[in-house]
Amino acid sequence: MIPFVDLWRQHAPLARDIHAWLEEALRQSAFILGRQVALFEQEFAGYCGARFGVGVANGTDALTLALRGLGVGPGDCVLTVPNSFIATAEAVTNCGATPAFVEVDPVTYTMDPAQLERYLRLSCRRNAKGELIDIRTGGRLRAVIPVHLYGHPADMDATCELARGEGLVVIEDAAQAHGALYKGRRVGSLGDCACFSFYPAKNLGAMGDAGMVVTGDEKLYRRLTLLRDHGKAAKYEHAVVGCNSRLDELQAGVLRFKLSRLDAWNAARRERAADYARLLPAAFLDLPETAEGCEPVYHLYVVRVANREALTDSLSRQGIGWGIHYPVALHLTTAYSHLGYRRGEFPIAEQYADEIVSLPMFAELTTDEVAEVASAVLAHLGIPHLAVAEVGARL
Ligand SMILES: Cc1ncc(COP(=O)(O)O)c(C=O)c1O
Repeated sequence: MIPFVDLWRQHAPLARDIHAWLEEALRQSAFILGRQVALFEQEFAGYCGARFGVGVANGTDALTLALRGLGVGPGDCVLTVPNSFIATAEAVTNCGATPAFVEVDPVTYTMDPAQLERYLRLSCRRNAKGELIDIRTGGRLRAVIPVHLYGHPADMDATCELARGEGLVVIEDAAQAHGALYKGRRVGSLGDCACFSFYPAKNLGAMGDAGMVVTGDEKLYRRLTLLRDHGKAAKYEHAVVGCNSRLDELQAGVLRFKLSRLDAWNAARRERAADYARLLPAAFLDLPETAEGCEPVYHLYVVRVANREALTDSLSRQGIGWGIHYPVALHLTTAYSHLGYRRGEFPIAEQYADEIVSLPMFAELTTDEVAEVASAVLAHLGIPHLAVAEVGARL
């Protein structure tokens, strides 16, 4: 059996440190917005190359609060991609705005700047006040959210240039890309702000839900510290209507241990991705590719195959874990049917939703296990079967 992900393998070597920290936290009994949260905010923002970090309850809240903090709300429209986890669009809806979608690049699966340029030119107009109006939704276009999907950075230079040329803010959805590099810079330092999830299975994961917004914008930072904590400027002094979305002290302490290991874990993921690339038959499967200047962190290792169900059935029979991220493009989900999109509007995202399969990928996965997965795929494809040992010998 090869699991899709095995979190115990990550936690076993950390168990003593984590136990010691939990005991210490119990002794201190200061669980909300304490020293560990402040330190983790500084350390993680610094790691990303950003000045400020605001810890929040989860990645969805990070996106929602970032939008609210930047003044996006009812009557506004926000552009993102159709092939993300639903949280990306949900955050837009949660802040009162409406999402609209831009097609993705066929190689990187991330927002295609050429399609963004086309959208801005053909699907928007200026009103009498000079505001940019999204023709489909009638909303004022305010922001763009590129998603660094599966750990591969979106083309941020071109995206930011186009967005800023129209006065739009850029929010990175970096929930799947902790530590990924774009032209030598870490994701999180590329847009006006970036939003991270520390959901347990992420490259940097908590022991529960957690998230963070990182930014270089001091005004946004100050506003976010209010918004996440009931708008609190001082005790019982509420400057704005906020919410309760605080990162808790226990999670922050655990995340600090893990942050020191993130680069090593990401390096291991890259090595396993290289193993897959050597062993899987590129003539029969579409394998992940890397855009020039990018160093992805392989949150997921996603291949594409025409007859997906046959492959996933076969993997299940052979005891190999797998996933689909995500089976329905956002514009076609029931939750967003009210937006009126039709099948065929985003051919790449739609085709990929039907063909993608995520193979086992986590930092502790071994080369032998990758060889076993590859062998199972070869067996399914009916390619002259290579014994696991032979596949391993090719590594
Ligand atoms: C791309 C993307 N955005 C946002 C989120 C939301 O994060 P969370 O689950 O912490 O709310 C996720 C989490 O799965 C994600 O993958």
